[in-house]
Amino acid sequence: MRDVTKDTITEAFLGYFGDDTDPRLREVMGSFSKHLHAFVKETNLTHKEWRKGLEILQRAGEITTPERDEFVLLSDVLGLSSLVDMVNSSEKGTSSSVLGPFHISNAPKMEMGSDLRGKYEGELILVEGRVTDVDDNPIAGATLDVWQTAPNGLYSSQDPEQDTYSFHALFTTGDDGSYRFTTVRPVCYTVPSDGPVGDILNATGRHPWRPSHLHYIIKAEGFKSLVTEVFPEDDPYLDQDTVFGVRSDLVMRYEPQAAGTFPAKGFDLSGKVDGTYSRVDFDLILTREPAAG
Ligand code: BEZ
Ligand code: FE
Repeated sequence: MRDVTKDTITEAFLGYFGDDTDPRLREVMGSFSKHLHAFVKETNLTHKEWRKGLEILQRAGEITTPERDEFVLLSDVLGLSSLVDMVNSSEKGTSSSVLGPFHISNAPKMEMGSDLRGKYEGELILVEGRVTDVDDNPIAGATLDVWQTAPNGLYSSQDPEQDTYSFHALFTTGDDGSYRFTTVRPVCYTVPSDGPVGDILNATGRHPWRPSHLHYIIKAEGFKSLVTEVFPEDDPYLDQDTVFGVRSDLVMRYEPQAAGTFPAKGFDLSGKVDGTYSRVDFDLILTREPAAG
């Protein structure tokens, strides 16, 4: 098309697609261009602002490494990651939440009842629950990939003082679908804010804090994988998570337990805990994978 105008540029863009363009790609790119062009027209975007946007992407590229993905972080603080989660989330079952950049593959397999604290001290929590389908039937053989920060608010990949797999573990449920482990209470922490994403947060008067949480990925044959988190109900950042990950069904009470009540069996720490601790009950409800075909 010649003499493209601001009223015809979107149509011109769509008209350039080849006839054999994948239909889904056509739909996604078509919608993307419509919204992007509308955004420029609605805001009367200046050259300086456009350059600034490109500069942010360029800087994100420059500091992205296998350990730190600034593009994912950008998507997180813009609410894009959470929105993609929400539009793909099942109505039934436990809500999904952001994956974040600190998951590590191949976490060590651990027995139920293991203690994740390693060399770290902090408030002891006992985490347990059941993995079930939406009809409350237990799911056996489900894997739970669990990770969290150390008490200093850092994930192992951010902290040279920690072993690679510190506070990362993989559990497999037995016939009753239950899981259990002990760990330290995670703390609220800030997402990395020393790059272009931090500049966006600063410029818009936002803080970089996330409420404390434990991360989970649950996988089971025949069910949709679930990426989620559990948050304590008394965290000060629950209503202002900088990456928009909090859902009501993921907020649990960390129930304080009296000294001397730690279970006598079933945990690495059984027989070793005299003092107080807190109990977190977090059940995980999976939905079935749609039938193929
Ligand atoms: C996290 O929870 O690990 C996380 C999520 C989004 C951005 C940064 C960290
Ligand atoms: Fe996290």
